[in-house]
Amino acid sequence: SPIFHYQNNTLHAEGCPLDTLAQKYGTPLYVYSRQAFEERWREFDEAFGRQPHLVCYAVKTNSNIAILNLLARLGSGFDIVSQGELERVLRAGGDPSKVVFSGVAKKSSEIERALTVGIRCFNIESHAELDRIQAVAKKLNKIAPISIRVNPDVDAKTHPYISTGLKDNKFGVDINTAPALYADAQALSHIDIIGIDCHIGSQLTEITPFVDALDRVLELKKTLTDQGINIHHLDLGGGLGIQYTDETPPEIADYIQALLKKLNDASIEVIIEPGRAIAGNAGVLVTEVEYLKPTEHKNFAIIDAAMNDLIRPALYQSHQTIQPVTPRTDGEDVEWDLVGPVCETGDFLGKQRKLNLKAGDYLAVMSSGAYGFTMSSNYNTRTRAAEILVDHKQAYEIRPRETYNDLMGTEKLIP
Ligand code: LLP
Repeated sequence: SPIFHYQNNTLHAEGCPLDTLAQKYGTPLYVYSRQAFEERWREFDEAFGRQPHLVCYAVKTNSNIAILNLLARLGSGFDIVSQGELERVLRAGGDPSKVVFSGVAKKSSEIERALTVGIRCFNIESHAELDRIQAVAKKLNKIAPISIRVNPDVDAKTHPYISTGLKDNKFGVDINTAPALYADAQALSHIDIIGIDCHIGSQLTEITPFVDALDRVLELKKTLTDQGINIHHLDLGGGLGIQYTDETPPEIADYIQALLKKLNDASIEVIIEPGRAIAGNAGVLVTEVEYLKPTEHKNFAIIDAAMNDLIRPALYQSHQTIQPVTPRTDGEDVEWDLVGPVCETGDFLGKQRKLNLKAGDYLAVMSSGAYGFTMSSNYNTRTRAAEILVDHKQAYEIRPRETYNDLMGTEKLIP
């Protein structure tokens, strides 16, 4: 059966009814499925067959250490963008030699920590960063393994806020200037060039942009070979989309097959950094209807989850399916705007949703496993939600709901 399914008229995560979890742990509540995380990770891993590869789960997507630990046990690598994420990977038992470090603003202290624990590769995003990594590595008397993140200038055809492969954004370096930067890197004493990196955007629902990007990366690899620079791996980033409502993203296996076919080289190692495609449909956000507020123009259902818990609808106008945990058999569907308690007009999780609601009902915001909790905040002094990881009939609280002391316990009055 699918991981989130109705049984006895109640939405379940694996073998756990969501109403029971909501009553026990309160709402808003994130609920994740172990099976879903593991299945999706394995699908990526197995799609590579005999090709040397490393699946580096993008930690920013869902970074609870219980989740990272599950993936580490499967042998996962990790894509990190901060020292904080590195510390999470280490606490989760992840292998630092399978960590790649992306991001445009790596601080010296972060570089130092990453070199000390021995990560796989720094994905460099600028000339200034290259110089800084050389300096820190020299100081520590270590060699820094690096790749350069290039911008292949392909249109990912996704929301502009999450498209990163075009010329005019802060990420990576222009692929046309990359050979010169690689030549500079080659001349540095404490730098070891091992790869080429790119990431063109997120929630891509077509294969073509990925293949086009790889095409350009392969051209670059050839240029570098002619320059006497040997490339050991290609890091093709993350970005594979998921179905939120009616999107039709490619299957994981088809996406990987298309890449391997274009690559046509059985010896080079391929790194990928998927996030959403592993975590997105592995979690839901459960919320309770506090009040129904029908007005002359609109019907508002005021729920206890808000933009501070799940910011995607407010930030990207993204659409996530919202389902009743226990569908009503009496009454009928009415159109509701599902709005939260935060004092912003943009605070909604769904608009014009046809639902049959009463105050006190539980709703599940589907596909909330990726960029849900990790993007949540304490705006309006709201405690962040609890997180539950379900394994068959067993539910584990992998992060308790925050307390008010967590929020303000370290703040100080002045004399
Ligand atoms: N690698 C790098 C360098 C990235 O910047 C990202 C995501 C990933 C991998 C993972 O991408 P994925 O496989 O999840 O598409 N908050 C937005 C998404 C931002 C993506 C940022 N980078 C959202 O909620 O849609």
